[in-house]
Order: sequence, then C-alpha cells, then structure tokens
Amino acid sequence: MKAPRSIETARLLLRKPASRDAVAIFRRYAADPMVTRYMSWPTHRNVTDTLAFLAWSDSEWQTWPAGSYLVFAHDDEGHLLGGTGLTFKTPTCAVTGYVFARDAWGKGFATESLHAMVELARQIGLQRLEANCHAEHHASAHVMEKCGFLCEGVLRAHTEFPNLSPGTRSDVLSYARLL
Ligand SMILES: CC(C)(COP(=O)(O)OP(=O)(O)OC[C@H]1O[C@@H](n2cnc3c(N)ncnc32)[C@H](O)[C@@H]1OP(=O)(O)O)[C@@H](O)C(=O)NCCC(=O)NCCS
Repeated sequence: MKAPRSIETARLLLRKPASRDAVAIFRRYAADPMVTRYMSWPTHRNVTDTLAFLAWSDSEWQTWPAGSYLVFAHDDEGHLLGGTGLTFKTPTCAVTGYVFARDAWGKGFATESLHAMVELARQIGLQRLEANCHAEHHASAHVMEKCGFLCEGVLRAHTEFPNLSPGTRSDVLSYARLL
C-alpha cells in the first residue's frame, strides 16, 4: 500500500519533498552544524549536497511504499520546520528519524511528527519501526520514549557521526516500536 504524499497533524503538514525545496532545506537545517551534530550524514556544504539527498529521497519513494517527508507549520504560511520519513529495511520493517531547524526545537514538533510516522507505519502494514540515536543524545531518546519506542540495547561502535567525531564509530541506542 502506497503512503499518502502528504499528512496533516494538529499543527503540522508533512509532505513528500520536491526539488524546489532544496534551498529551503539547505538554509533551514541541513547546513547548520548545530542541527546536524548528531546526524549520520555530513552537514551540507552547498545546495548540490541537498539535491543529492532529494535524488535519494525520490529513489526511495519509487522503490518502497514511502520515503522522506518535509515538515511544515500549518499556521505560518507553510514555513519549513524540518524533516522526517521512513527508510525501509524490508516490506514490514523501516527506520525513522527526524531533524528540525534550531528555531523549531522545544515545541513538541519532533514528538508530533514521530507520532505521525508511527501512525503511517501502522496504516501501510509495517510490523516494526526502528530508530537509533547517539548514546548521549538524551533529547532524541526522550522523544522516542514519549512515542512508545523501547530501548532494545546499545549497539557498540555502530555508527559514524561525521560532524561529531569523523573517522570514529560511536555507540548508539537502538530503539524500536512494534505496530
Ligand atoms: C532532537 C530534536 C529532534 C528534538 O526535537 P524537538 O521538537 O525539540 O522535540 P520535542 O519538543 O518533541 O521533545 C523534546 C523532549 O526532550 C526533552 N529534552 C530536551 N533536551 C533534553 C536533554 N538534554 N535531556 C533530556 N531531555 C531533553 C524536552 O524537554 C522534551 O521533553 P518533554 O516534552 O517531556 O518536556 C531536535 O532538537 C533536533 O532536530 N535536533 C537536531 C537533529 C537531531 O539531532 N535529530 C535526531 C537525531 S537521532
């Protein structure tokens, strides 16, 4: 079952990214070193990096029932707040994550968009939704716990965080929610 290209929640509009979004993604969060500190992808150096992300997102949407979503505010003329989405491992198991512009932190938007991803995952027949975070990223771990994810353990020296400790693999907390 194909996921909808857009999803509405109480305060947010989530929609499939388009190439016209590249500059906004770059400016709002992908080029901000503070925002990308705990991301597993390098801080974008230019809009070409962002276009590469959008090409990957398109290929995910073509291959699987869903892919990335951008997150916009309902009530602020469609202001871009951040991004989330589903990356499929198999037809019944996907990984999710979220990234928000600095001025959008602390307002419950990550929690609201993660709830939306859980609901979407359930609707399209997933059985398991996974999410990892750096072992010291307490805010992200808290968001997952608020959305019913359980920590299944520490994956040791699992992920390279290129903006935090390039060339070194760090421990991550492995979370999942059954649907
Ligand atoms: C992490 C991030 C997604 C959180 O987004 P957000 O919209 O601020 O999150 P929410 O407001 O929904 O919830 C954050 C929760 O963490 C709590 N929190 C914030 N900082 C915290 C910390 N250092 N330790 C523990 N909890 C913390 C908040 O109080 C809030 O919980 P509450 O609602 O119970 O008070 C956001 O800061 C972000 O985009 N960071 C950059 C990208 C990133 O790191 N993404 C995650 C990669 S795994």
